[in-house]
Amino acid sequence: MAIATIEWEKQNVKLIDQTKLPNELKYINCRDVKTIWQAIKKLKVRGAPAIGIAAACGVVLGMRNSKARNFTEFNKELERVVKYLATSRPTAVNLFWALERMRQCVFLNRDKSIKAIKDVLYDESVRILNEDKDICRAMGRSGARLIKNKDRVLTICNAGALATADFGTALGVFYQAKKEKKHFKVYSSETRPLLQGARLTTWELMRAHIDVTLICDNMAGSLMERNLIDKVFVGADRIAANGDTANKIGTYSLAVLASYHKIPFYVVAPKSTFDLSIKSGKDIPIEERREEEVTLIGKKRIAPVGVKVYNPAFDVTPHKLITAIITEKGITKPPFIKNFVKLK
Ligand code: MRU
Repeated sequence: MAIATIEWEKQNVKLIDQTKLPNELKYINCRDVKTIWQAIKKLKVRGAPAIGIAAACGVVLGMRNSKARNFTEFNKELERVVKYLATSRPTAVNLFWALERMRQCVFLNRDKSIKAIKDVLYDESVRILNEDKDICRAMGRSGARLIKNKDRVLTICNAGALATADFGTALGVFYQAKKEKKHFKVYSSETRPLLQGARLTTWELMRAHIDVTLICDNMAGSLMERNLIDKVFVGADRIAANGDTANKIGTYSLAVLASYHKIPFYVVAPKSTFDLSIKSGKDIPIEERREEEVTLIGKKRIAPVGVKVYNPAFDVTPHKLITAIITEKGITKPPFIKNFVKLK
């Protein structure tokens, strides 16, 4: 059911170019770290866990032609590659988590030959990718317990197979519920400006024969008011120690609406999306992107040339609006600040 969004193929990294979906299923072959950096920056690969995996693979590509003669030289080069990849996108902490894992891996193997260190780096990237598969399945099993027959659920952006190495976070819950033969209906919010909900989530769910209906972002409140939504499931890009959660812009509005209408609001994310060094959502860096993403739809201009544009790619949902957070360890309820400790 899951599609391989990112994988190693003959020493290169093969990625689905998500900017081409749903019209074309096209792959790109990444042979060097720059191509990976650009793929992350331009959202050819996107979604927090997938960004982390891509960054880990980027480190391997960035280091494989190293001519370093000793560990000190190798480590210097590694720091440069890691720093470079870290500039690709700021919000999803999975990127920095994966880069740190790659750094640690080099450090722990510092006594080996350069050739052996390159091999363990490759192995670590494969481990990160494979672990993500198991994590998706575990989150799916826990989350599916929350889905009842006849539920109508709402999601935003794409937190599915295209955002991970397996069947996703929020969408993983739906895939698992479908496997358990539950009957439910998904509403996918289109997710302006880059339309991940319209382009990617509907594409994925339709392929899996899950009942999905596309709505514009500004329709969610009306559907809730008319009792057409039972639960909201979203992914996350960074979760602070108190449970405040950064996710795609528009998530906060859905959480406020859900709270007003007394609809449960669930976040589904692996532990690698937690940033316990950050106390609250106030300190989460929010990416701002190019104005053309707002003034153009595809190639068509929809706003006057020269108009002022503000384009934050993420927002922060305060922990008070979150009913529970589903991780590979199960379902965590508030108070998050206390209960996160048990997730170790
Ligand atoms: O800008 P994007 O498409 O990378 O944003 C992705 C999201 O906001 C997802 O909801 C989040 O990364 C969770 S993906 C499992």
